[in-house]
Amino acid sequence: MTTRDGFETLAIHAGQEPDPLTGAVVPPIYQVSTFKQDGVGGLRGGYEYSRSANPTRTALEECLAALEAGPAALAFASGMAAEDCLLRTVCSPGDHVLIPDDAYGGTYRLFARVLAGWGLSHGVVSMSDLPAVREQLAARPVKVVWAETPTNPLLSIADIQGLAQAAHEAGALLVVDNTFASPYLQQPLTLGADAVVHSTTKYLGGHSDVVGGAVVFADAELAERVDYVRNATGGVPGPFDSWLTLRGIKTLAVRMDRHSRNAMRVAQMLAEHPAVAEVLYPGLPTHPGHKTAQEQMRSFGGMVSFRLLAGEEAAVRACGRTRLFTLGESLGGVESLIEHPARMTHASVAGSQLEVPADLIRLSVGIEDCDDLIDDLRQALVPD
Ligand SMILES: Cc1ncc(COP(=O)(O)O)c(C=O)c1O
Repeated sequence: MTTRDGFETLAIHAGQEPDPLTGAVVPPIYQVSTFKQDGVGGLRGGYEYSRSANPTRTALEECLAALEAGPAALAFASGMAAEDCLLRTVCSPGDHVLIPDDAYGGTYRLFARVLAGWGLSHGVVSMSDLPAVREQLAARPVKVVWAETPTNPLLSIADIQGLAQAAHEAGALLVVDNTFASPYLQQPLTLGADAVVHSTTKYLGGHSDVVGGAVVFADAELAERVDYVRNATGGVPGPFDSWLTLRGIKTLAVRMDRHSRNAMRVAQMLAEHPAVAEVLYPGLPTHPGHKTAQEQMRSFGGMVSFRLLAGEEAAVRACGRTRLFTLGESLGGVESLIEHPARMTHASVAGSQLEVPADLIRLSVGIEDCDDLIDDLRQALVPD
């Protein structure tokens, strides 16, 4: 691959040269734990044991690095394993980090209930509010600014370039969870972020058939440090999971175009629906982050959240009434999903500064026929 190759070309070819032994046009699944050495320490291509490195995983990592425009990427067993390994490499007990006031509930749980016990403290701030972030950065030393954009589940937008500048001026690293956008819609490293985190379970994998995570780095030296900890702690993906993720990535661009188009139509329909109090979608001109999203994203993605005028019980009922939108956690697959964040994905933030509205419904808009999706939502929102 050359650095001039376009995104779709990189998605299909980066790290995926035909196999030198057989000519297989996709990377084989190296379902193997250990590799024969040509004499003690005589490794073939650097492979000795699959926790340390595996050729199918290498193919995935080279592809992820190319898509996020970074020098190195590391794949993990899940998004949470990626987050944990990165944080325990760059932070030490006694450090302080800033986290968003709206984020994936599992990320909050990691900071508040796991890493806090290890000695990592956190401050909560709206990452959409740069002056508030600067204020917290000035108040005490901060090791990491952690951002999601768009956020899960409120679809808030943070200005990545502005956050990178503020973090770097204060001597902090900026980490961006790019799960909702995917590298096709947004490349945080090109906007100044130091590391990008993914739950590859979502749009990168794209088919709701594999759990995985990744970190892509702006700096190869930091990647080496995290790789050391990953090998020491062992949160690696297996070869088959790496292969499934890589297969999903090949169609990322066409899927994201369709997700974004369908989500925009769904958001517009909901914005005019009499049962809906508010629609949260960065593609709508009324969204407070619309302009920033337009500047840093190619389009606005497949996630739409909305609030119902009739409140929590009506929201729960609507989640159970759809035919095509499947009631379930997760997101980013080709099929549409619906969920109630307060009782499902974000139950762990109840009572915290990250608590989500009880009347909120989150949609992962899939790539089905959009007329069918709109009909399905309309019938689910008919009052009792
Ligand atoms: C934005 C975001 N980050 C991280 C994660 C965690 O990823 P995983 O479920 O692959 O561990 C999720 C999972 O839903 C997520 O939505």
